[in-house]
Amino acid sequence: MKNFKHQTAEAIASAVLAASPDAGLPAEEIEGLLEYPPDPAMGDLAFPCFRLSKILQQAPPKIAAALADNLRDFPLGTVTAVGGYLNFKVNADYLAQQVLTAIEEQGDRYGSSEIGRGKTVVLDYSSPNICKPFHIGHLGTTVIGHSIKLLHEFVGYRCIGINHLGDWGTQFGKQIVAFRRWGDRETVERIGIDELVRLYVKFHEEAEKDPSLEDLARAEFHKLEEGDPDNLALWKWFCDVSLAEYEKTYRQLDIEFDHYTGESFYMDKMGPQINRLREMGLLKLDDGAQIVDLSAWNMPPCIILKRDGSTIYHTRDIAAAVYRKNTYDFDKAIYVTSAQQCLHFAQLKKVLELMGYEWAENIVHVPYGTVSVDGAKLATRTGNVVLLKDLFRLSIEKVREVMDEKNPDLENKDEVAEAVGVGAIVFNYLYNSRIKDINFILDQALSFDGSTGPYAQYTYARTSSILEKAKAAGIEGKGGTLTHPSEEELLKVLSLFPEKVDEALEAYEPSVITRYAIEICTAFNHFYRDCPIVTAEDGSQREYRVRLTRAARTVLGTALHLICMKTPEKI
Ligand code: ARG
Repeated sequence: MKNFKHQTAEAIASAVLAASPDAGLPAEEIEGLLEYPPDPAMGDLAFPCFRLSKILQQAPPKIAAALADNLRDFPLGTVTAVGGYLNFKVNADYLAQQVLTAIEEQGDRYGSSEIGRGKTVVLDYSSPNICKPFHIGHLGTTVIGHSIKLLHEFVGYRCIGINHLGDWGTQFGKQIVAFRRWGDRETVERIGIDELVRLYVKFHEEAEKDPSLEDLARAEFHKLEEGDPDNLALWKWFCDVSLAEYEKTYRQLDIEFDHYTGESFYMDKMGPQINRLREMGLLKLDDGAQIVDLSAWNMPPCIILKRDGSTIYHTRDIAAAVYRKNTYDFDKAIYVTSAQQCLHFAQLKKVLELMGYEWAENIVHVPYGTVSVDGAKLATRTGNVVLLKDLFRLSIEKVREVMDEKNPDLENKDEVAEAVGVGAIVFNYLYNSRIKDINFILDQALSFDGSTGPYAQYTYARTSSILEKAKAAGIEGKGGTLTHPSEEELLKVLSLFPEKVDEALEAYEPSVITRYAIEICTAFNHFYRDCPIVTAEDGSQREYRVRLTRAARTVLGTALHLICMKTPEKI
């Protein structure tokens, strides 16, 4: 209803002007004040007159009545004054023609816009740590990040997706020591990250008994930093083994990155930034470490160089931000990480600002809450983690069982089971507002009823199969008009998509789209329940309903793709 809302706001603005030439309230402001009434009996859109009441020094009901009078001939709907509100009911005709035509004309671009045209966004997301498995904690950054990228692309931004791999740091010294002592190449090649994790865990167990191992690890990391060829080769191999596994997960999610530039990429890019900090007098010596004092902003200091002179996570992020600005000239740099890193990014932003980079204000940190699975909190290092690949596998297996039973002859069963199994987890995850802590219950996520991925994908498949039947019956899906309230309900929901896209973008909140996908499914399934489509008796009704089905399929498909969901034609 973006268009309806927009035009309604314009009409109200002129009515206000007509009522009182110097009271002028701009249409954009009016648009912001328009509300969707909770009860549809009140109309489709409501304008509260309280704001105007202050400007005009009149009681809201009086203003509402005067404006309703002025808007008697509003062509897109009917206007009534109820108390201090102006209620608008959109004309069925308008919905029936304008909205549907817009969807038909724009296809999978319906809902998009050009607001990002000419602007660049750099998105830093997923970014797992090498030698560590991809556990369920990474699901958030990966799918929220990718969805935010897709949303920005949808409205015209040039987007650069960066996987800022955790591929540098003292932990690699430990990994090298552990591998040389207790590991062998063949086992790592065969088992992959799990074996690297086992070695890493073993290092910590052994180091408890023999603390000198820690010194050894530091020395190996130091050699790595100095470019020791053996250590470098080993480190590179750890990266390759890890990446090969991450890639599998990314493929299941249909996610590709533009760059895999991890922390190591910034090794030679930190020097100039450290110098700049020093020259600007921002560095302070604190217990042997070089820090930026942020106490004036109520934050702990940002450590730039540790006591032993080595750089850390923050140092690399400073270099990375500057590199990205210089390379991509971004209008916005978005970082998606768990909420535990809020302080890290607040410090980063402040330090960049103190360094005189005025673009620091364009850094946006998008945090998300923690995930537990069936009540169990996740912990690394102890080895007690829920791996994403295991969760995906379990989910795919369960879907496969249901399919074998319900639809044994389905083609591409493996592909569909993967799309539904993985999709169930993604959908369930993206259904909640991102900052909420989530307890994930697999059986709930997999249910075919309720607000789930399988339900949404199933509804999509239903629209596809209706269209196939229509085609076979020679129904083209042309012309016709609205005849049933459930058709109207569906169209109203479809008309909301452009606003939902705006809302999701504004709040960096894919859940707006996930929930909206469910609204489409509910409205479509009501329509399906109430209205015969291919079997409708009246020819023009048949045509119109097939049109509606096609439109619902288009919008649902686009919405699902924006939240990293695949849409099989048959389930
Ligand atoms: N590797 C980090 C982690 O797993 C996330 C990196 C986020 N990006 C960044 N530029 N700091 O916690």
